[in-house]
Amino acid sequence: VIDLRHHGDAEIAPGLVDLAVNVRPGTPPHWLRELLRASVDDLAAYPDVAAARAAVAARHDRPAAEVLLTAGGAEAFVLLARALRPRRAVVVHPQFTEPEAALRAAGHAVERLVLRPPFTLRGAPHPLVPDDADLVVLGNPTNPTSVLHPADAVAALARPGRVLVVDEAFMDAVPGEPETLTHRRDLPGLVVVRSLTKTWGLAGLRIGYLLADAATVGRLAGAQPLWSVSAPAAVAAVACSSARARAEAEAWSREVAAHRDALLTDLARRVPDATVVPDPRAPFVLLRLPERVPGDDVRRRLRDAGWAVRRGDTFPGLGPSWLRVAVRAPDVTGDFVTSLTDILDTATATTGRPLR
Ligand SMILES: Cc1ncc(COP(=O)(O)O)c(C=O)c1O
Repeated sequence: VIDLRHHGDAEIAPGLVDLAVNVRPGTPPHWLRELLRASVDDLAAYPDVAAARAAVAARHDRPAAEVLLTAGGAEAFVLLARALRPRRAVVVHPQFTEPEAALRAAGHAVERLVLRPPFTLRGAPHPLVPDDADLVVLGNPTNPTSVLHPADAVAALARPGRVLVVDEAFMDAVPGEPETLTHRRDLPGLVVVRSLTKTWGLAGLRIGYLLADAATVGRLAGAQPLWSVSAPAAVAAVACSSARARAEAEAWSREVAAHRDALLTDLARRVPDATVVPDPRAPFVLLRLPERVPGDDVRRRLRDAGWAVRRGDTFPGLGPSWLRVAVRAPDVTGDFVTSLTDILDTATATTGRPLR
C-alpha cells in the first residue's frame, strides 16, 4: 500500500542539504517579503481577493470569472473532489499524489493510469484513457518524472462531459511556458491548476489558483470555505502576477535549465549506470539506480552523507530504486554526484557485489 500523503518535506531535517523539496532556493525574494510584511498591517480586515483575482486574470488574459484563488494547488484538488461527482475518475501516474488522495478522501473511486518509462503521453487522445472517463487528472510538467507533455497531447484529452484537470504547478519553471493550457478557453471541461509555492517560496503562505470556465469556477467556489485565501496570500497573488515578477520567474527558469543541463552531464559522466528520465523540463530530475542496487540503502546512505532526496516508492508506478533530485547550482549538485558515486563504490567494496 502506497502512502499517498507522503511528501518531500518529510525527508528534510536540520543539517541535510535539501534536494527533496522543489521550492526555489533563496525565496521568497526580498521585494516580496517586504510586501508580505506590510500586509500584516491590514490583518484586522477580512480578506478581499477581488484585486488578486483581477491580477491573475490579467496575467493569463482571461476574465476574472474564470479564476478561482485557492489556498495552494492542494486546495484546488480538494475543491474538485468535493464539488464534482465523477462516475469514472482517472489519475495519470506517476504524479503528485494529492489529487488522488483528495478524491479518495471525498469518497470517489479512482482508477490509476500508470505510464511506463519514459512516462510520455503518446497518441491523441491517449489510447489508454478510457473514453467514458468523466474526470481525468494529470500534471504538466509532471512531478516526479519532470516530463513536459506536448500541449496538443494534453488538449486532446478534453471532451464534452469530461473534466480535464491539468496540474501546472511547475509550469512557471519552464522557460516561455510553451506547453501551458492556461489560455485554452475553447477546451471543454478544462481546469488548469497553478501554484505560487515553488517559484516564489510561499509553501507556508498557501496560495495558488485555478482557471476554468465561469460555471465550473462558480461550482468550485461553492465548495470553498469562506476566506480560505488570506489577505497576505492575496497580496502575493497580485505581486507574483506583475510583469516584473514574470520576468524574474522567466530568468530563474532559464537558470534552472542551465543548472539541470550541468547536473545531467555530470550524472551521465560519473554515474553512467543510473538512468535519468529523458528530457526533464521541471526543476528536478528523476533517476533510477541500477536494478541491483538496494535503493532504500542508497537513500539512507545519502542521508548519512548529508543529502535529502525524494524517495520514489510512494509514487504509483515507481519503486525504491527511483530518486527525485532537485536541480540546484552546479557546485551543490556536483558534490551530490560525488557522494552518490562514493556510496555506490563503497557499497561495492563492502558487499563485494558489483553495485555499479
Ligand atoms: C505537482 C504539484 N502540484 C501541486 C502541488 C501543491 O502545491 P501547493 O498546494 O503548495 O500549491 C505540489 C506540491 O508539492 C506539486 O508538487
